[in-house]
Amino acid sequence: MASQAQPSAATLLAWYDRHGRRLPWRAPPGGRPDPYHVWLSEIMLQQTTVATVGPYFAAFLARWPTVEALAAAPREAVLSAWAGLGYYARARNLHACAQAVAGRHGGRFPDTEAALQALPGIGPYTAAAIAAIAFGRPAAALDGNVERVIARAFAIDTPLPGAKTAIRAHAEALVPARRPGDFAQALMDLGATICMPRRPACAACPWHGPCRARAEGRAEALPIKPAKAERPLRRASAFWAERSDGAILLTRRPGRGLLGGMTALWATPLSADIPPAEAVAFAPLDGAWRQLPGTVEHVFTHFRLRLTVHAATGLAGPAPAGCWWCARDELADAGLPTAMRKAALHALEALHGGAAAGPLRPPRKARRARSA
Ligand code: ADE
Repeated sequence: MASQAQPSAATLLAWYDRHGRRLPWRAPPGGRPDPYHVWLSEIMLQQTTVATVGPYFAAFLARWPTVEALAAAPREAVLSAWAGLGYYARARNLHACAQAVAGRHGGRFPDTEAALQALPGIGPYTAAAIAAIAFGRPAAALDGNVERVIARAFAIDTPLPGAKTAIRAHAEALVPARRPGDFAQALMDLGATICMPRRPACAACPWHGPCRARAEGRAEALPIKPAKAERPLRRASAFWAERSDGAILLTRRPGRGLLGGMTALWATPLSADIPPAEAVAFAPLDGAWRQLPGTVEHVFTHFRLRLTVHAATGLAGPAPAGCWWCARDELADAGLPTAMRKAALHALEALHGGAAAGPLRPPRKARRARSA
């Protein structure tokens, strides 16, 4: 039976006090967390799951306990520590943002949405989340999970993205003057643990009564999403250049663009769809290059990449400009992004068998992570 009551912040906060997730960047309900922790976690959580972020968050704080420490770190160190989280523009912006906070704001994060949005890598959602969680501002932080919760609670049937205006209006009207940060995180938890995209656990929902979509038996159908365009497939080749002592040739990618600034195997331009047959012209060194059987696939935001791996072994001599030789047993710690790690695994398995590839395999959790 549907209740007449509207969804309320008070009901959700009472639920959060009992059932909210205890996450390392959070203060206990009612408390105020460190803005540096809130910002760092929010940047890491963009496009990435809570389970994947946990170990990275801990590792960053252990290494860079303050925003000033992060600002003072070499950019390469930050990018390497980020390897595996994906969407590497986030890491470049993270570092630039730390430098802006340390340099322009005396090491203190600004406390308004507008001032936060003026910083690198902080868009409207992240600014609202930080303003609410770290500074107690009554801001509505709307990401995909929260949009789903609100669209269902108020049975908004306009397809996305058109539904966003109504979703925002309802969400803003709900934000409480007290504990807006807990409210923001309660909505996130509701979306992540109860109001899931498929098979929502409506029986356990604190808004079970007032949720209009649930009352109408169509929670799972909302919000209505536009059909997704298929991501185009692009081809490129990576080069596994192996010296006679087993060291591998690595390079650092140009600062901007796909995998910008990241450590990588030498490769043909990744976005240009270069067929494998044309790849040898791009090889980093002279050698007896051969194409390894099979391919590696990786999904980026706007396209799928099919990587062919070309290998040459027994090489000698100095690394070409912009490259270096990396000892084989240091490869797992070289900060390769996931696409390149997959290419390296592929080459190690093809040339030296599965056991040689072992150290490069990411831990189980990270393997499930989406990353680009
Ligand atoms: N996703 C984005 N921000 C989050 C937060 N603070 N807690 C849990 N999940 C989140």
